[in-house]
Amino acid sequence: MKKEFLWLSAAIFIISCDPSADKSDTKQNPSESMREYYSEQHRPQFHFSPESMWMNDPNGMVYYDGEYHLFYQYYPEDIVWGPMHWGHAVSTDMVHWEHLPIALYPDELGYIFSGSAVIDWNNTSGFGSKNNPPLIAIFTYHNIDEERAGKNDYQTQGIAYSTDKGRNWTKYENNPVLPNPGIRDFRDPKVMWYEAGNKWIMTFAVQDQVRFYSSTNLKEWAFESEFGKGIGAQSGVWECPDLFPMQVDGKEKWVLLVSIIPGGTNGGSATQYFTGNFDGKNFVNDNPPETILWMDWGKDNYAGVTWSDIPEKDGRRLFLGWMSNWQYAEQVPTTPWRSAMTIPRTLELKNSDAGMRLISNPVVELKKLRSGEFALEPGMISGNKKVNIGEASKKLVGELEVAFQMRNGSQFGLASEFGIELSNGRGEKVLIGFELAEKRFFIDRSQSGKVNFSPEFPGRHYGDSVPGSDTVKMHLFIDVASVELFADDGHTVMTEIFFPNEDFNKIVLYTKNGSVQLKEGKYYSYRSIWD
Ligand code: FRU
Repeated sequence: MKKEFLWLSAAIFIISCDPSADKSDTKQNPSESMREYYSEQHRPQFHFSPESMWMNDPNGMVYYDGEYHLFYQYYPEDIVWGPMHWGHAVSTDMVHWEHLPIALYPDELGYIFSGSAVIDWNNTSGFGSKNNPPLIAIFTYHNIDEERAGKNDYQTQGIAYSTDKGRNWTKYENNPVLPNPGIRDFRDPKVMWYEAGNKWIMTFAVQDQVRFYSSTNLKEWAFESEFGKGIGAQSGVWECPDLFPMQVDGKEKWVLLVSIIPGGTNGGSATQYFTGNFDGKNFVNDNPPETILWMDWGKDNYAGVTWSDIPEKDGRRLFLGWMSNWQYAEQVPTTPWRSAMTIPRTLELKNSDAGMRLISNPVVELKKLRSGEFALEPGMISGNKKVNIGEASKKLVGELEVAFQMRNGSQFGLASEFGIELSNGRGEKVLIGFELAEKRFFIDRSQSGKVNFSPEFPGRHYGDSVPGSDTVKMHLFIDVASVELFADDGHTVMTEIFFPNEDFNKIVLYTKNGSVQLKEGKYYSYRSIWD
């Protein structure tokens, strides 16, 4: 409904278990009968997911007074997309979440589509005071009746404010603050304070471009410029942009994230980015128009943006995305909820041989979840090598860090493909690996269990070819029904979901047609954030 608008040598050896390596704390897992909350089949254990019903994009991500806010596109009456609300949760560490009541309900101006939130520190809006700066949410109103009536101007931008740490919200009486000039796709405002110009900048998506508007009070907005015609990935509508400054080698650069649907590198929805300069009016792209940069090469990271108002002394640029794809989001076999968010990530901009690139890595706060630690024995791998991860019957919830060296030193030649296999007793599996010929990472979920709910779901999905060193590093976050790959220190990222009939409980390092050296490796089991 929603998208109407839219391989093996014979040697098999098992790493022995070193009990002293188990650093589990003394906390006992409650027995299954005691712990039913968040224990349904396919339920993520350390990713944010709503208790029940439908969720898509993260919205209004803002930090205030010790709390990370996460609002999200939410339909509280079904597990498919419907009239959009803003669901709400808060966290003190971006890892453990407390669910709060729905923050914004649809009203006569429309459904509450995606948007952002800021702290109005100087009370430019007048909705609070300098001592108690208001939180301002800036979102898109989607008027479904007008859309059904065939009108073009059914998306406008509105605002709402809160003076009690985001617990209660009041919509502005003179909404919309930005009416629609007659353009069908006109949505997803991300607002930031542009210090150098003493003004607010709103970046939002308009068909296959973004627009920048400015304001001094968040209520009146003036057009500044547009960006994107014929630039970057263009085979779909642009959505959910985010514009922010970053430091690279001591210089300021600007990053513009833009989600696109369809036209993702592996099909469906995905997020691209641009690097450039922004002067308060225009965004000037660094690269030739045909350059396409993907922030995540997997199929399941969409509509992600970054948190506003992270304190300067922290200084990180923190990102989180919706871990699904519009191709099949409404068909995934979960109940009574649908969708989860990615793990929170730190973004950095770095110069590499390939050019300036956006690097994503997991936030350090996740380390708190480590409950057991298992060292992998380094050595040559030819064929399959099972990784000891403790209780074999447990579902895979944890973090795996491995470094392979592509040096030939056995009677076998260098493997044509190697990687990590997550599997269960039924022969269902997901492969996360590296193909030597093309020098590229992949995730293969063709045989991952339940795959027939959409023809777009199964398959092997590829990252970019990587220039290269002979060391291949893979850092995986595995959480029951998803894997996030941060390869080569975050240069290649791939996020994918999967739905085995029985939980995966086994990790095997494998090679095809030869061997590879395991330099080092560690597995950390995680405790659930919902315990
Ligand atoms: C992205 C998106 C946004 C829109 C929202 C509606 O997934 O299509 O453009 O605001 O979802 O739920």
